[in-house]
Formats: sequence, structure tokens, C-alpha cells
Amino acid sequence: MRIERLSATGTLRGLAELSALLIDVVEHGASIGFTLPISSEEVQSYWQKVAGDVAAGHKELLVAVDDRGAVLGSAQLALESRANGRHRAEVQKVMVRHALRGRGIGAALMVRLEHEAQAEGRTLLFLDTSTGTAGATAFYRKLGYTFVGGIPNYAANPDGRLVANAIFYKLLPAQGAVSSLHPFSAHEPAAASSP
Ligand SMILES: CC(C)(COP(=O)(O)OP(=O)(O)OC[C@H]1O[C@@H](n2cnc3c(N)ncnc32)[C@H](O)[C@@H]1OP(=O)(O)O)[C@@H](O)C(=O)NCCC(=O)NCCS
Repeated sequence: MRIERLSATGTLRGLAELSALLIDVVEHGASIGFTLPISSEEVQSYWQKVAGDVAAGHKELLVAVDDRGAVLGSAQLALESRANGRHRAEVQKVMVRHALRGRGIGAALMVRLEHEAQAEGRTLLFLDTSTGTAGATAFYRKLGYTFVGGIPNYAANPDGRLVANAIFYKLLPAQGAVSSLHPFSAHEPAAASSP
């Protein structure tokens, strides 16, 4: 298994597999923005929109693939572009094929997503997930995310029932924060070393 970052073209090329992944996850009860019945048309137009966001630089899309290139899971990073929020990004739609859960694929996607976020200069990640079995609160707690709170009746589960969400965040160390310091700044002020 390896994690790949898809371009917009790669996203469109993988449309059928990405759509199959999303349908599999929703049909197994995940609250991830869709309700049942779910149509392949709405799912395909969703991935086309993601491809547009990737092309515009607003989003990163990661996929977990097996040795033959089959898609096992995916995760997205929505990069805030407003001037006061360019240090943050939202984790969205982390999903793994139902039959392949519990093998570390979701965690591997999140580790890579965090590296990508740091490479983009993002030091705050946030997300929301549904409470109960349709969400992934235990998963995010395991990965070191802090629970903030939730909003009652926030979203409908695939079966149409309204449930609360759970909001999480994680602070990331700034990439290169230590190495970007002046090499002598701690012990040797520039003025002292000048002739
Ligand atoms: C959440 C999801 C992505 C996890 O994927 P996964 O590949 O099964 O996760 P991993 O195997 O990498 O698990 C990582 C850790 O989280 C824990 N974990 C994962 N899902 C869990 C659950 N439902 N309950 C409790 N712990 C869970 C694992 O036990 C593991 O801990 P460990 O390292 O101590 O064993 C997957 O269950 C999924 O696709 N869910 C549906 C979509 C969804 O709800 N996404 C989140 C909303 S954005």
C-alpha cells in the first residue's frame, strides 16, 4: 500500500474508482455529506468539483492505493485561502473501503495529510465528524486530535436521522521552525561576531 497525491487530471482519471469508494462508504453508514439512496451521478459530479478545487489549488487529494493501483481509501485537505487563515486547513472526507478497515490505511492517510499540511505552511488542522457509529470520533482521538464540542442535529446520517457533529483540531509544529532560526541567534548575536 502506498499513499499518492492526485492532480486534477489524476482525480478525473480515477473518477470511477473514487466514486465506487464513496458509494461503498456511504452505503455502509458513514455520514460524509451524502444520504441514501446515493446515485452515481451525484457522486461523479462531487468528484468533478473536487478535481476543480485541486486544479485551483484550494484542495489536496490523497489516495491510498494497492500494488496494482486500486484505490483503498482517500483523504482531503481544504486549504483556507483568506488572508487571516492561511495557517489553517480543514481535514475532509477521510474514508477507507469498508472491507479494508482496521489495517492502518486511515492512519497512513492522516500521517501523510499532516505532512502535506506542514509543507503548505499550515499549523492548524480542524475537522468535524458525526457522532455515533456514522462518524469517526475514536479514530481522530487516537491520532491526537482535541475534541472541541459539537452542535446538536448538525447533519443527517445516510438513513436521514439528524445527529450532532463533533469538532476536533490539532496544532502542528511549523515545518522548519528550528532550522529557519539564524544559526548563531541563540549564543552569538550578529553584532558581537562582526569586526
Ligand atoms: C475513520 C476511518 C477512515 C478509519 O480508517 P481505518 O483504516 O479503519 O483506520 P486505521 O486502521 O488506520 O485506525 C487507526 C486507529 O484508529 C482506531 N480506529 C479507527 N476506527 C475506529 C473506530 N470506529 N472506533 C474506534 N477506534 C477506531 C484504530 O483502532 C487504530 O488505533 P490503533 O492504532 O490503536 O489500532 C474509516 O473507519 C472510515 O472510512 N470511516 C467512514 C468514513 C468516516 O466516517 N470518515 C470520517 C469523517 S471525515
